[in-house]
Amino acid sequence: MFEVLKQLPADPILGLSAAFKQDNNPDKIDLGVGVYKDEQGKTPILQAVQQAQVILQGKEDSKTYIAPQGVQGFIDGMLTLLLGEASPVILADRVAAVQAPGGCGSLRILAELVARANPDTTVWVSDPTWANHIPLIGDAGLKIETYPYFDKASASIKFDAMAECLRTQVKAGDMVLLHGCCHNPTGADLTPEQWHVIADIVVEKGIVPFVDVAYQGFGDSLEQDAFGLRLLASKVPEMVIAASCSKNFGLYRERVGLAAIVTQNSAQRTAIQTQIQSVARAIYSMPPSYGGALVDIILNDTRLKRLWETEVTDMRERMKQLRAMLVEKLAEKGASKDFGFINQQKGMFTFLCISPEQVDKLVKQHSVYLVGSSRINVAGISKGNVDRLAQAIVEVL
Ligand code: LMR
Repeated sequence: MFEVLKQLPADPILGLSAAFKQDNNPDKIDLGVGVYKDEQGKTPILQAVQQAQVILQGKEDSKTYIAPQGVQGFIDGMLTLLLGEASPVILADRVAAVQAPGGCGSLRILAELVARANPDTTVWVSDPTWANHIPLIGDAGLKIETYPYFDKASASIKFDAMAECLRTQVKAGDMVLLHGCCHNPTGADLTPEQWHVIADIVVEKGIVPFVDVAYQGFGDSLEQDAFGLRLLASKVPEMVIAASCSKNFGLYRERVGLAAIVTQNSAQRTAIQTQIQSVARAIYSMPPSYGGALVDIILNDTRLKRLWETEVTDMRERMKQLRAMLVEKLAEKGASKDFGFINQQKGMFTFLCISPEQVDKLVKQHSVYLVGSSRINVAGISKGNVDRLAQAIVEVL
C-alpha cells in the first residue's frame, strides 16, 4: 500500500534545525526556525509561565477530558487580548471560538470549517507567505491564489499592486489571508492607513478576511499589533482569526492556539460554535489542556499578566536592538547593499532580500542557516555572532 508514497524533501523551515544540528562547524549560526532565543542561544521558559506552572500544579486535580471548546478562561482571555477590552463583536455575542493545538491547528480547523461552508472557496495569500500556510489551507481542499505583497528589489510592500489585485481579481465570498502583524516571512507590515484601505476594499467587495495573528506583541506593542485585526472586526460582517501563543508566551511545544470566527449575529455564533467544535471533534476531539490552562492563569491574574507583558516587551525590544546591531555591522563591514530596511521591518523575521544562490552560499560555505527565501530569525543574532554573520553576508553579496 505505502510503496506509492515516496520520500519527501526536508521541510523548508523545520528541516533547517536538523541540518544545523548535523553541522560540525563550532561557529555555525542558526537563523532558521522562528523561535525566540536569548544571548546564549537558549529559548527560556518565560517567568510568567514558570509561575503559572506552579499555580496549575497546585490546583489541577484531574486529568479527565476538558470541555470540547477547550479552557474557557483561555478563550475569553485570548479574545480580549486580540479584539480589545470593549470589543463590539464580543459584546454583541458574535464570536465563536475554540482553543486549538497551536496556530497550525487553528489555521487547519478554520480552513476545514470554511470548506464545510463552501468547498469552492478561494483563499488569497500574500506573495510570499509563511510556507506552511499553503498545506494547512490547501490540504483542507480550499483553492489558493496569491496577491502581490513584497518587492524584494525595494524591500518594501507593493501596496498599490496588492490593493489593485483585491479590487479587481478577488471575488465576493473569496477569502484574503492577512498577517495581523509581523509578516512572516518579510517582517513588512501594513501601516494603519493601509489597513484602512484594505478594510474598505474587503467591505466593498464582500471579501472575507482570514487573519493570522502569530506574533502579537513582537511588532510595536500588544495593542498596536492588533490594530488591523480590530479595524476589520469593526467593519466586516464575518471573518476568521487564527492566533498562536507559541511565540509571545513561548509555549511552542505545548501547542496553544485559538480559532475564532466573527459571525453575523448571535444566532449564527451559536450555530458556528457547534460546527467548529464538530470539525475539531472529527480530527482530534478536543485540544490538549495544559498550555491553554497556563495562558488562562496568566491572562486572568493582574500581577502575572503584567509580568508577562514586561517579558513580551523585553523580547520585542531585544529583537529591535539585534536588527540595529546587524545593520550597523553590515555597514561597518562595507556591505555593497544598503540594509537599512531591516530596521523598518517588524517582529521576529527579516527578509535579507538576497538571491537563493547567495542564501545557499551562506548555508554551505559559512554555516549560517536561514530559510531559502532569505528569511532570517532575528532572535538568532547575538553580540557573540553578529560580526561573523555580517562578514559572511558581505562575502556572499
Ligand atoms: C516559523 O515560521 O519558523 C515558525 O512559525 C515555525 C514553523 O512552524 O514554521
